[in-house]
Amino acid sequence: MIKKCLFPVAGYGTRFLPATKAQPKEMLPILTKPLIQYGVEEAAEAGMLNIAMVTGRNKRAIEDHFDITYELEDQIKGTSREERLDSIRGLINECTYSYTRQVHMRGLGDAILTGNAIIGEEPFGVILADDLCVGDEGIMSQMLKVYEQFKCSVVAVEEVPMAEVNKYGIVSGQQLDERHTRVETMVEKPDPDKAPSNLAIIGRYILTPDIFDILRNTPPGANGEVQITDALQTQATQGNVIAYRFKGRRFDCGGIDGFVAATNYFYDKLKQS
Ligand code: UTP
Repeated sequence: MIKKCLFPVAGYGTRFLPATKAQPKEMLPILTKPLIQYGVEEAAEAGMLNIAMVTGRNKRAIEDHFDITYELEDQIKGTSREERLDSIRGLINECTYSYTRQVHMRGLGDAILTGNAIIGEEPFGVILADDLCVGDEGIMSQMLKVYEQFKCSVVAVEEVPMAEVNKYGIVSGQQLDERHTRVETMVEKPDPDKAPSNLAIIGRYILTPDIFDILRNTPPGANGEVQITDALQTQATQGNVIAYRFKGRRFDCGGIDGFVAATNYFYDKLKQS
């Protein structure tokens, strides 16, 4: 049973400037809920009730979101507006929240390594909240089953158009069945003509704790960032990474197109309910 889920939320969110100048991109709302809340709901559904966040400067709003707001709650107590807080109150009661700060934004790998202090030495989930995922069963719950079967790191993947492989970590390896591939090769943002496949890693991982030592020994890549893909390649070489084609749909809410698509998706759902 995996109990902890890490949320690296220290990035600057430059694709959403100026909206993200003074507020975290994870607090941008899809309808009435901020992106980060969808992610925490997915972790909680998977039974990962210890939420660990790697934050940075300008991210205080995230901590405040997962805490009670006395004045507001007092004001709307007993009114019809009170139920609008039900979903977040549920998460506040159900989960624990721990925070640590990434001091220098040296990439996702460095952010995950910063989380070692609050994760400790046990397997854990990782959710990048700007990848908003929907499915009949939550993507992290699906991945947990994969972890229980293979007992090694798991990355969620989806097929992307070949022209877009240069935006993702791309995997290839031995396909075990329709949904599972034992990863042999991982490349971060390859040129389309050099990509080993079009299977792209999206913002969901289950990692075994040896990843921390590997990250400690992974030098920064060309842009000065420590890539999680490079560390995962070390695990993959040992046969310890499974790529899982999840059931459901992902919206890249770190960019405008995905953000609008997610908004329309949830708006249509709301209108149908
Ligand atoms: P992104 O590549 O989306 O970067 O990071 P970003 O800074 O958030 O957004 P843009 O590209 O400038 O618009 C992927 C995830 O890794 C986290 C981000 O918060 C996001 O969840 N991250 C990235 C960190 O926590 N620390 C980093 O140093 C880099």
